[in-house]
Amino acid sequence: MSRISIAPMVDITDRHFRYFCRLLTKKSILYTEMVTSSAIIHGDRNKILDFDPFEKPLALQIAGCEKEEIGEAVKIAEDWDYDEINLNVGCPSDRVSGNQMGASLMAYPEEVAEIVQAMKRETNKPVTVKHRIGIDGTNILPSSLPKVIFDKYEDLEYFVKVLNEAGVKHFIIHARIAILEGLSPKDNREIPPLRYDDVYRIKKDFPELLIEINGGIKTIESIRKHLNHVDGVMLGRAAYEAPFILAEVDQFVEGGKINNISRREVIEKLMDYVERFGEDQKMGYNALKNTLGLFHNKRGSKLWRQIINPPWGEGLYGKNILERALEILPEEVLDERPISRR
Ligand SMILES: Cc1cc2nc3c(=O)[nH]c(=O)nc-3n(C[C@H](O)[C@H](O)[C@H](O)COP(=O)(O)O)c2cc1C
Repeated sequence: MSRISIAPMVDITDRHFRYFCRLLTKKSILYTEMVTSSAIIHGDRNKILDFDPFEKPLALQIAGCEKEEIGEAVKIAEDWDYDEINLNVGCPSDRVSGNQMGASLMAYPEEVAEIVQAMKRETNKPVTVKHRIGIDGTNILPSSLPKVIFDKYEDLEYFVKVLNEAGVKHFIIHARIAILEGLSPKDNREIPPLRYDDVYRIKKDFPELLIEINGGIKTIESIRKHLNHVDGVMLGRAAYEAPFILAEVDQFVEGGKINNISRREVIEKLMDYVERFGEDQKMGYNALKNTLGLFHNKRGSKLWRQIINPPWGEGLYGKNILERALEILPEEVLDERPISRR
């Protein structure tokens, strides 16, 4: 059977969004937002690392470049019961790759190997790597290092080979290169073409490894197709743009089936969830702000967004907002279920 995961996404996959995802999918693995090793070491650990056990299985994604520091961050995170620790080798943001983190690390497989070895010394949990199929250019490198183009299949194959030898058995591959000079992170998720075949080829060349594909996957049909070639599929933007699809993904995972839940039931469960924030409008909104796609492409989509988006009005809190939604959204969309759509 296969693995389905929901991608790490900064400002999206916070605790609230993960709770919401878990109402829809019981079997896929969820990821935290990317957290830097130095934030774990120097920041407010409880705030950064706490989660609700309901979110499990859950992977912590770490970004960094200093192996000692990343090792220390992994050691600290051992006090939290994450199911997997993931290293970010895919983020093209200047903030990350300009500091020799994220995607720019791809051109230095031996250094990444040392990082994962430092991680593995601190945990017995699976250490996985999320990366691109390659990179073009590198920003702010030490002048001793040459400008890098690392975008051929052979480069990717070499990267996977070195990390395999370092003990990584599970790779999540975003099937685009990252262009590290002149493209924003957003453009880097759209402009470099998707090269799914390179990811399929990695699975063929390393059949013993767990290879998960990511990038531009939005439908149940396309998940099914990819799973003919690789072991897993990671969904990113689809999970917040059209989250109701998550009710259908467990069918691909061992012991899983379509979650025949309706939007009304999701909203009722969210009502219980937001009650923990009581009369705190800001927290209530934070808990709901990434659910805006629940009615994607359906009647009521605009209305749902209007209801959730502030201002909420004096004396109205998360629970009242959701009660109102149940009163005014179209019944047939509220009561639609994944199976009745088939
Ligand atoms: C808002 C946003 C934030 C993201 N943050 C991260 C991150 O923290 N770590 C990471 O590895 N990738 C991050 N990504 C990339 C996604 O994990 C994923 O690789 C990318 O969106 C491609 O998958 P998709 O086409 O299914 O969205 C982010 C993407 C988006 C849209």
